[in-house]
Amino acid sequence: MSNMVFPENFIWGTATSAYQIEGAYNEDGKGESIWDRYTHTPGMIWGNNTGDVACDHYHLYEEDIKIMKEIGIKSYRFSISWPRIFPDGRGEPNKKGMDFYRNLVTLLVKNKIIPAATLYHWDLPQKLQDIGGWTNPEVVDHFVQYARYVFKELGDKVPIWITFNEPWVSSFIGYWYGGHPPAVTDLSFALQAAHNIMLAHGKTVRAYREMGMNGEIGISLNLNPVYPASESEADLLAAKRYSEFQNNWFLDPILKGKYPEQLHKLFSNIAKVPDIISSDMDVIHTPIDFLGINNYSFNSVAYDADKPPLQVAFADTGKNKTDTGWEIYPEGIYDLLLYLQREYDGIKIMITENGAAFKDDIDKDGKVNDDERISYLNNHISEVFRAVKDGAHVAGYYVWSFMDNFEWRLGYSKRFGLVYIDYETQKRIIKKSGFWYKKVIERNGL
Ligand code: NOJ
Repeated sequence: MSNMVFPENFIWGTATSAYQIEGAYNEDGKGESIWDRYTHTPGMIWGNNTGDVACDHYHLYEEDIKIMKEIGIKSYRFSISWPRIFPDGRGEPNKKGMDFYRNLVTLLVKNKIIPAATLYHWDLPQKLQDIGGWTNPEVVDHFVQYARYVFKELGDKVPIWITFNEPWVSSFIGYWYGGHPPAVTDLSFALQAAHNIMLAHGKTVRAYREMGMNGEIGISLNLNPVYPASESEADLLAAKRYSEFQNNWFLDPILKGKYPEQLHKLFSNIAKVPDIISSDMDVIHTPIDFLGINNYSFNSVAYDADKPPLQVAFADTGKNKTDTGWEIYPEGIYDLLLYLQREYDGIKIMITENGAAFKDDIDKDGKVNDDERISYLNNHISEVFRAVKDGAHVAGYYVWSFMDNFEWRLGYSKRFGLVYIDYETQKRIIKKSGFWYKKVIERNGL
């Protein structure tokens, strides 16, 4: 395809999250988050890195917005740190924390960059973890209080809201696989956490409407197209099972008001699965304005009897990989978008994350020539275009990430940014991909 011009008003953005970029982890009254606690525990993170300073965006946000302006970014997706606003997760708000986001949003608006705010990008106040975190239904109500306060303060300036970022990760990596805080390894806890997060999401959407806000609100799910490793019946069923887990466990309750049946049954045999109370499902199923999707790769899945309960094994299909080891398959995002279009009534979609980590070096002229990232983004955007042509309703695309940042367990070892960060000096360098993205935005396509 030559000229790929996207629909008018298509939103070209970039994304970040609070813990990954802000630093200032204990300044101006901010409370401790579960990620502060976790990264301060030796042995958890690559090189024992922490987000204590990160990109020091808390102090350098003006410079960062200047760079966004230079790249011509139309929208900036960031997240709000709950413990910056409510150090204990509840009670009295911390005005200084709120001031930071008010200043950020005001400057974005002044520069004609549309703010898109995520309310929860994993940094739960530690004080709420101390009472059980997302397994405690009380936390749901504290979240809604926090959200209401933020809507009251910023609702008139921020037109795009995301309740939760990748609740699958918070629930299943946090409470089943134990790879993120609170590092619990119990499926029943994970299912309870997932259910409570979905309730918090639904209640927050209702609060947003009740407060008469004018913008749009949705949720960002990490979704992968899942393919069977072979044509065998066992692999086909394994792929379906895994997709129900990876994709439908959140998609179906939120967009259809029910859990995926097969998997619900399977989990019921081995864990305590949240009761399907119809009033809960109504709240979870509250209509949203758009579905946010984060997509980087895909899964090829084979049946493996020795891996209960899902009995799936991941197959390497031999494609090129990014620096995080994720196989690159741009057609996957097309398949995913068309699947969502078919299965969920043409729902409006925002691609709230897509991008890739590669090893970036500064050359002798001080430049970062990240051609692999350009090719990754180019090929994915072109598949998004094909999906739009074929009927998917996609309203925006956000590159993960605006700048290199703290990649969770992998610390600073992986770079996803359009902007390079020298962590020693906090110097920012726009990579070749940043200049390339500027042209994409100017042309409204490829
Ligand atoms: C998912 C998460 O939302 C984000 O925090 C993370 O850095 C990227 N994807 C890359 O792994």
